[in-house]
Amino acid sequence: MDAVLSHANATPESLASWQAIDLSRSIPPQPSLFTPMLQESLERLACRRDIGLLLRNSTAGGTAGDRSAARLWLRSRLPLDMLDERVLVCNGTQAALLLLFEALVGQGGLLAAEALSYGVLSQLAARAHIRVCGVELDDHGIDPSSFEAVCRRHRPKALYCNPTVHNPTASIMPEDHRQAIVDIARHYGVAIIEDEPLGCLHPEAPAPIAAMAPDITWYVAGVTKGLAHGFRIAYLVGPSEREIQEIASAVGRLSYWFPSALSAAVLRDWIESGSADQIRTAISEEAKIRQKMASDILVGLDLTLREGALHGWLMLPQKLDRRELVQKLAQNNVFIRQSDAFAVEPHRRQVNAVRISLSSPLDRQDVVRGLGAIAKECQASM
Ligand SMILES: Cc1ncc(COP(=O)(O)O)c(C=O)c1O
Repeated sequence: MDAVLSHANATPESLASWQAIDLSRSIPPQPSLFTPMLQESLERLACRRDIGLLLRNSTAGGTAGDRSAARLWLRSRLPLDMLDERVLVCNGTQAALLLLFEALVGQGGLLAAEALSYGVLSQLAARAHIRVCGVELDDHGIDPSSFEAVCRRHRPKALYCNPTVHNPTASIMPEDHRQAIVDIARHYGVAIIEDEPLGCLHPEAPAPIAAMAPDITWYVAGVTKGLAHGFRIAYLVGPSEREIQEIASAVGRLSYWFPSALSAAVLRDWIESGSADQIRTAISEEAKIRQKMASDILVGLDLTLREGALHGWLMLPQKLDRRELVQKLAQNNVFIRQSDAFAVEPHRRQVNAVRISLSSPLDRQDVVRGLGAIAKECQASM
């Protein structure tokens, strides 16, 4: 580790000569068993006599086999009895969110969301022609009193939230706050859309809101973070079989949200063979190693990290403006994102903080170099 950490003292001049270090995107590292497991899976599929037929069609919500694999995958977070006939396999989280925004919020309707949220939320909302209103955050995620005030004043149709290792602040909402959010949502008749891409890497986190209030919650879990971005697969669990069928039949002839048959078949094979579990465990282990690097290199700074998370949240020293930091680092080929990139109401004043993704570089050394550059700028400003 010491040898690794010595790179933290690299000068900006030497950094500039390195390739871009992308700590801005939060896609998972690729463990060494990934490629052989993909090769094995493709070989198994290649031996199937019906392999040609597999690609003849694509199925709204995935095939019965895809949906039963989904149930197996989701069982680390949701009770099995919740998953019967309530699961759709979609072409990624964004596709699932668009379905939900259209169905639950509707054109012109209002969606409440964490004031800092998934960076593409505003774009998705614009596509669905809905409005978004920010809910204040505290150290534990959504501040329930702010949610209550938003419900009382603005009557949103739904809440979009990311309670398990929040993007971008890395907070994990404790159980009592989850319950408070559910109580408020019930009181005001607000549907909850819970996006949990990191749940599969954090089985020990408090139970999803969907498990506490299955009748009002729509749960989305993509495999982008727990396995690989390239699958383009997310699982959507609805409150009931009837409601999930209503959503699916409204868009039954629009195939933009259908999963790719080949991708779904590989994922199913991985889940059923146990490869998926091994890969997510390896990703968690790698995430822990990278977090240790971050806490060592950024020691003494106000950094929020969660064991096994793919990103951290750094509150900056007062004298270091987040925009300047991001710019300076970019000049040296190190990329991170400032709080503003996650703001659902960009005109509001944002906290002086940045999100640091630890997972995207394939090489640990790049993570160390990037963190070293951040540490250097922070130290210079103190
Ligand atoms: C909050 C959140 N949801 C979902 C996703 C993944 O979306 P998709 O499944 O469309 O890749 C991300 C990843 O970038 C994310 O940060």
